[in-house]
Order: sequence, then structure tokens, then C-alpha cells
Amino acid sequence: MVDWSNLAIQHSKYLFNNIQSLAGNKVALIDYQHIFKNHLVDIMVWDKEHGAPALEPNVLNSAWEYIFILSKENLPKRSIKSGPDFRGTIPNIYRLNPRGKKDALAKDHGAVFPVEFAEYFIEKFTKNSVLDLFGGSGTTMIAAEKLNRSCFMMELDTHYSTIILDRWSQFTGKDPVRSDGAPWQSVRKERISKNSV
Ligand SMILES: C[S@@+](CC[C@H](N)C(=O)[O-])C[C@H]1O[C@@H](n2cnc3c(N)ncnc32)[C@H](O)[C@@H]1O
Repeated sequence: MVDWSNLAIQHSKYLFNNIQSLAGNKVALIDYQHIFKNHLVDIMVWDKEHGAPALEPNVLNSAWEYIFILSKENLPKRSIKSGPDFRGTIPNIYRLNPRGKKDALAKDHGAVFPVEFAEYFIEKFTKNSVLDLFGGSGTTMIAAEKLNRSCFMMELDTHYSTIILDRWSQFTGKDPVRSDGAPWQSVRKERISKNSV
């Protein structure tokens, strides 16, 4: 997380890093804040209003997640200057109950966030473009499309990148084109015949 956060702040004005504190990473998340202490703009909390019941006895249900806001600036102020100007209108707690398993995409990807979630941050904190290094099911791309922003996205897994391209194609009614000019439908067929979908 440290490596890609460093890369992300080199290439974007601000990084919004959404992550949940769990038993396995709670200490690493404290270390993360220390490592980036000179680049920390602010911390927001995503209040999910409801935490999935913890499986372990005597463990609190996790009903919120971190959103670390970083910039490459040294000792930045708390102002976030990448989107439309605002004053006194955006709280540092963002409240949205995710649909969890009820989300239509939940069957295709185990960790989707709601489109409204991505839309909120893109609308408030960007003007032109957004970069998401962990595309998943492509939620950020759909939100960017809705808000008329460009979206640059990476996804490691071929199966998920297929879901992203299908989802974008369905949403826009357009056919994605690969950088060498190959249309999505033929790339998709190629992928299926190689059994990689
Ligand atoms: C938590 S999911 C993102 C879900 C996304 N926010 C959504 O709503 O669909 C993280 C994704 O990052 C991908 N990923 C993990 N390591 C990666 C890497 N090094 N480069 C690109 N994608 C990566 C995983 O395959 C996974 O689909």
C-alpha cells in the first residue's frame, strides 16, 4: 500500500484511499499514517450505518471505514483544491449504507462499492479526471462516466477487466476499443476462446 500510494500521489493531485480497519491490518494502518504523516491532507470516515455482524465473539461490528486523503505536497493544509470550490458544506464523515450482497454486481465481484460512493467523491473533488488503480468491477469508471469525467483505470485480473469493459459498454452503449484498434467484441471472443473469462 505504501508503494502504490507513493506512485498515486506522484500522478494525482490527491489520493483518496478507502480501507477498512480489520484485525489483520489495524497496526499496518497506524504505520501507514505515520509513514505518510508529512503528506496527510485529512482523514474522512465512511459511516456505513450498519456493520456486518463480526464472526468472532466479543468483536465489535465494523460499521465505518477510513478514507485517507494524501497529497505529494510536503505538510499540506487541510484544503482540497482539486474540485469545485466549497466552504463549510462537506463534512469529514460520509454516510451511506452500502447494499452489500444486494448490490447487483456483488455476484461478480466480492468487494464492490456503490456507484453513489464513487460519484460523491468524484463530484466533490475532481473537475476533469480520476485515476483508480484497483478497478474491480469498474464502479469508479461508471461514476466518472455519469459525471462526464475521464477515468483512467487498472485491473490486474482478466476476468474482472472483462466485467469492467462489459459494464462500461452496457452503460454507454459503446464498444470499447483496444489501443491497437481491436474492437472489444473481438477481444472478448479471443479471451473466451483462451478460456480466460
Ligand atoms: C477491492 S477491489 C476494487 C473494487 C472496486 N472498488 C469496485 O467497486 O468494483 C480491488 C481490485 O484490485 C485488483 N488489484 C489487486 N492488485 C492489483 C494491482 N497490482 N494492479 C491492478 N489491480 C489490482 C483486484 O483484482 C481487485 O479486483
